[in-house]
Amino acid sequence: MTFSKAISASVGYSKSVESRLKIQHLQQLTIASPDGSDVVKGLTHNPKYLSPRYFYDDRGSELFEEICELPEYYVTRTETSILQNCAEEIADITGESELIELGSGSSTKTRILLDAYHKKGYPLRYLPIDVSAGILEASARQLLVDYPSLQVHALAGTYEQALEQLQPSELPSRTIGFIGSTLGNLNPQECDNFLSQITAALQLGEYFLLGVDLRKPKHILEAAYDDSAGVTAAFNLNMLNHLNRRFDGNFDLSKFEHWAFYNETKYQIEMHLRSLESQSIELRSLNLKVNFDPGETINTEISRKFDINGIQELLTKKGLVPQKAWTDDNKWFGLILSKLS
Ligand code: AVI
Repeated sequence: MTFSKAISASVGYSKSVESRLKIQHLQQLTIASPDGSDVVKGLTHNPKYLSPRYFYDDRGSELFEEICELPEYYVTRTETSILQNCAEEIADITGESELIELGSGSSTKTRILLDAYHKKGYPLRYLPIDVSAGILEASARQLLVDYPSLQVHALAGTYEQALEQLQPSELPSRTIGFIGSTLGNLNPQECDNFLSQITAALQLGEYFLLGVDLRKPKHILEAAYDDSAGVTAAFNLNMLNHLNRRFDGNFDLSKFEHWAFYNETKYQIEMHLRSLESQSIELRSLNLKVNFDPGETINTEISRKFDINGIQELLTKKGLVPQKAWTDDNKWFGLILSKLS
């Protein structure tokens, strides 16, 4: 029996799930800009690019869950094992704190922190934030069943919207968690802006928990983003299906291939879709025609790999002073707990 199941089994009476759940829709939104202007901009740019937000339609989200289980994709299980080892220390450092999670998804890793807070007898307050209102509500309800003393205030919206609207907590502090290495999907400018938003959202003495993927040999990284079962390839190509459906398009997936490589100068994985032949596609609802040369690529994602000292220096420059950093034995992944000082 997991610790969370044991908690729920040991409590005879608790307040109803309904009375402990609040869901706030920050704004009517879709998972990427609804007018598609970013698609037009990206596909008419030289070289072509698309926002990684377009990975995550229903099928894309399912494929990403599969990626997290792949033998080559060390990211999820490494971060989980670090969290399991350091969750109690995190709880000791933050004390009673409201947990805010950006991009909470299924909230699987958060359970490790909730268990640590519960073990210390801290009140459990959780603010998951995700653009997918469906996943947000389903995982919040499951958490509320498993943790009878938990209060959840879920925010359906983008990080930017949510960070602007965060309210002070009744608890002594708040801890914003941004785990899963999603920071790596932002370019340096976006990363800088994002950290400024975190600083602006926190009050002095509050915490920021960041998970980052670290630099490691090229062959390990490239296998993680081009797995032998072809799940990452399907995830990448699915973006074209998503665009077809959304913008009445005619991308033929058999005429593109997945391409991922580690750029050792920029310390980043780059994922592309490469056109196998000369072709022309149309996205009718955007009134857009795009030509491809054979071998021409669309960049769909970067996944930056950090140096544990470098990222701590960047956090410090933003006023987010690291209190402690943890890694695994291989030093493949890092978790850093910072305090706004
Ligand atoms: C969501 N993000 C942290 C993943 C990563 O590793 O950069 C996205 C991903 N792309 C391909 N595989 C996983």
